[in-house]
Amino acid sequence: MKTKIKLPQKNLTQSHKDTKKGQVKNSSLNVEKIRKDFPILKQKVHGKPLVYLDNAATTQKPLVVIETLDKYYREYNSNIHRGLHLLSEKATAAYEAVRLKAQKFLNAADSKEIIFTRGTTEGINLVAQTWGRKNVAAGDEVLVTNMEHHSNIVPWQMLCEEKGSTLKVVPINDAGELLMEYLKKLLTPKTKILAITHVSNALGTVNPIAEIIKLAHSKGVKVLVDGAQAVPHLPVDVQELDCDFYVFSGHKLYGPTGIGVLYGKYALLDAMPPYQGGGDMISSVTFEKTFYKKPPYKFEAGTPHIAGVIGLGTALDYVGKIGLGNIASQEQDLLAYGTKKLSEIPGLKIIGTAQHKAGVLSFTLGEIHPHDIGTILDRQGVAIRAGHHCAQPVMERFQIPATARASFAFYNTRSEIDALAKAIRKVTEVFK
Ligand code: ALA
Repeated sequence: MKTKIKLPQKNLTQSHKDTKKGQVKNSSLNVEKIRKDFPILKQKVHGKPLVYLDNAATTQKPLVVIETLDKYYREYNSNIHRGLHLLSEKATAAYEAVRLKAQKFLNAADSKEIIFTRGTTEGINLVAQTWGRKNVAAGDEVLVTNMEHHSNIVPWQMLCEEKGSTLKVVPINDAGELLMEYLKKLLTPKTKILAITHVSNALGTVNPIAEIIKLAHSKGVKVLVDGAQAVPHLPVDVQELDCDFYVFSGHKLYGPTGIGVLYGKYALLDAMPPYQGGGDMISSVTFEKTFYKKPPYKFEAGTPHIAGVIGLGTALDYVGKIGLGNIASQEQDLLAYGTKKLSEIPGLKIIGTAQHKAGVLSFTLGEIHPHDIGTILDRQGVAIRAGHHCAQPVMERFQIPATARASFAFYNTRSEIDALAKAIRKVTEVFK
C-alpha cells in the first residue's frame, strides 16, 4: 500500500500566527471571532475544552441559525402553501425565499430545479426510485465508485435488484484516488447513470468531478453527484459542472438536521414520476385519477420541514458572508498542518493521501482499534469519529475494519490540531 503523503504545500506558507489564546488568525478569516458565533464550542467535555473535529459527520450551528429556528417557532410557525392567514403567508414567503438562496448557492438555472429533501440520502433515493425506476431496465448498468458512502450505493443496489440490472464499481488506487482509466472502460452503452461523490467522507479525496461529468456525458450517461462533503468546503456551480443531479445536506453546512437539497435539470425532473404521494404535490385528485403539480412541488409531498428550510437559508447566508474561498483556504491550512503533525506520530498511518483532498484525516494507529482511539480522545475533550464511516467498501479496499477520522471546519485552529496530536500520543502511551 502506498503511504507517501503529499502535502498541499502551497498553504503551509500562509501567514498564520497563533494569538495569545492559541487561536489562529490569518489575513482573510478571524477564526477567534468566528468561534464566538458557535455557542457549543465554548463548552468543556470531561473537564477539558471541547475540540470538535467531527465536522464531516455534522457541523456545529452558528447562533444566527439557532435564532432563526427559535424566531420561526415563536413568531410565525404555520403551514405553508395552504393558509390564507398572515402567519402562513409569512412562513410560505420565508420557505420559498430559501429556494432562491439555494438556487443562487448552486448557481442553478432556475429555482424550480431546487427540491427540498430530508438530506443527501433522501435525495439519492428520490432519484433512484423515480428517474431510476423509469429509465433503468434489465440488462442495464448503474455505475458507482469504490469510495461511495452507503447512501450512494444501497439505493442503486435496491434499484438494480428490482430491475435485474447490474451495479458496476470504479476502483480506486492506494492513495484513494479514482482510477480514471477504469472509469473510461466502465462507461459502456449499457451504463444509464453514474452516481459519484464529489468529496469522499472517509478519505477526503476531491474527485475531478467536472472532467468525470464531461466523460460520462460523452458516452450519453447521466450523472448524479453526492455533494454532501463538498458544498461545505468548496464553491459548486451546477451549470458549469453540467451535472444532471446534485444532492447535499443542510446539517453538514452549518444548518439544521433533517433538511437537504436535490438539484436536478428541469427537463429531467419534469419527466420523472413523483416520489411520494400526498398533500401539496397534486393539482387535482379524484378516485379515478390524480394530476400532479410541476417540479419542484411534485416532489415535496406533505408538510415539509419548514423550520429546517428557513434555518438552512440562514446557514447559506452565513456561509456566503464568510466566503467559500476563505473557508477553503483556512481548511487547507488545517489539513496541511494536521497531515504534517499526525505523520510525525510513530505508528500512525493516514488512510487517504490523494493529491486533492478536503479537510479529512482518516488514520489507523498500529493495531489499536479506532474505537479505542475515539474513546481515549473523547476523555481528553477531542471529538472525532471512529468506525467504517458508512463506507464499508472503502475499509475493505484498504483491508482495515475501521479508521479514526478527524474532519475540519473553518472554525478549527492549529492549536486544536496540536491538542489532537497530543491526545493521539496519549493513546499510544496507554497501549504501550
Ligand atoms: N456521512 C457522515 C459521516 O461521514 C455521517 O460521518
